[in-house]
Amino acid sequence: MVKLGVLKGDYIGPEITNEAIKVLEAVKNKYSYDIELEYIEASGEAYDKYGEVLPQISVEKCKKCDVLLKGPFGGPTELVNDPKWRNIERDAILPLRKIFDLYTNLRYVKTVKELLDFSNVKREVIDGVDILIVRELVSGIYFGERGERRTEHGRECYDVEKYNEFEIERIAKKAFGFAMQRRKKVTLIGKSNILTSSVLWREVVNKVAKNYPAVVLDYMHVDNASMQLILNPKQFDVILTTNMFGDILSDEASVLSGSIGLFPSASLGENNFGLYEPIHGSAPTIAGKNIANPISSILCVSMMFEYSLGRPDIAKNIDDAVSKTFEQGYRTADIAKKGENTIGTVEMGEMIRRNL
Ligand code: IPM
Ligand code: MG
Repeated sequence: MVKLGVLKGDYIGPEITNEAIKVLEAVKNKYSYDIELEYIEASGEAYDKYGEVLPQISVEKCKKCDVLLKGPFGGPTELVNDPKWRNIERDAILPLRKIFDLYTNLRYVKTVKELLDFSNVKREVIDGVDILIVRELVSGIYFGERGERRTEHGRECYDVEKYNEFEIERIAKKAFGFAMQRRKKVTLIGKSNILTSSVLWREVVNKVAKNYPAVVLDYMHVDNASMQLILNPKQFDVILTTNMFGDILSDEASVLSGSIGLFPSASLGENNFGLYEPIHGSAPTIAGKNIANPISSILCVSMMFEYSLGRPDIAKNIDDAVSKTFEQGYRTADIAKKGENTIGTVEMGEMIRRNL
């Protein structure tokens, strides 16, 4: 029996997570798959109840799970200074990643045939794009020393980017492992003309590459890479990069296929434990209107079967059900062209379940 912890998230979080859960229920019936769900309070709802966004009691519950499904955390921009939302990233999201040592973050970008004309980038540039971004998730500038000091020029704040060999080596091995199952190319992205940490990444990754002679290793500076992603995205197979660059490049790459509302991510530790969450935020402005796209969350369930639960067959069934829904012409507002009919969050979930 598998135990899944569900952290529903804020604003559109519960709406889209509910659709993912319904898909999971359908999978459970179809495959007689033994999985038990436990709802775990975190973020806004935990703050309201415990005065903390990630209370110890929730962490303990997460530790008893085999895998976690999470909705986006966060409040509206106008409430950034509200004590409830002020530190959500540093007090809830980052600790969750760190406590479980979820160092491998996977985000893929695949273009969908039916949505090719919907992207802002030309059809011929994006047709056939299939990229896996492997982002280091528990180190770098997100977790480096930060602080503030007084200087003669006023307050000075700093955040340190740092990586050690162990951290780079373990994520590099993952990236090469994934590349072996794909088109056998890894592009390391850094800024080694400036940053010493990037120089270390290049050294360590070059060493790791020697154990994967079948894989071609390429290196690109991040400024060039961000241009290449739009100019010629088909040159990428696996992108390996740091926490910060991976954060930025994954948002950029999501544009290729039309909507950030389509993308799931996996954050993996050792032993298949994983946290699955959409790459987008909690979108307060569209919450409660039944218009958010649940596909990001539904595809989290697919990734979970693939990367944590060892059932690529079920993952494929979910992916195919989503593709079929596109073929049938169903669109939520974020992926609809002007004048095209749209369906709501719940209806999209329903259509995908039917196609399962
Ligand atoms: C992401 C998000 C997070 C990050 C934020 C919400 C802390 O942007 O998962 O990409 O920067 O990692
Ligand atoms: Mg991000």
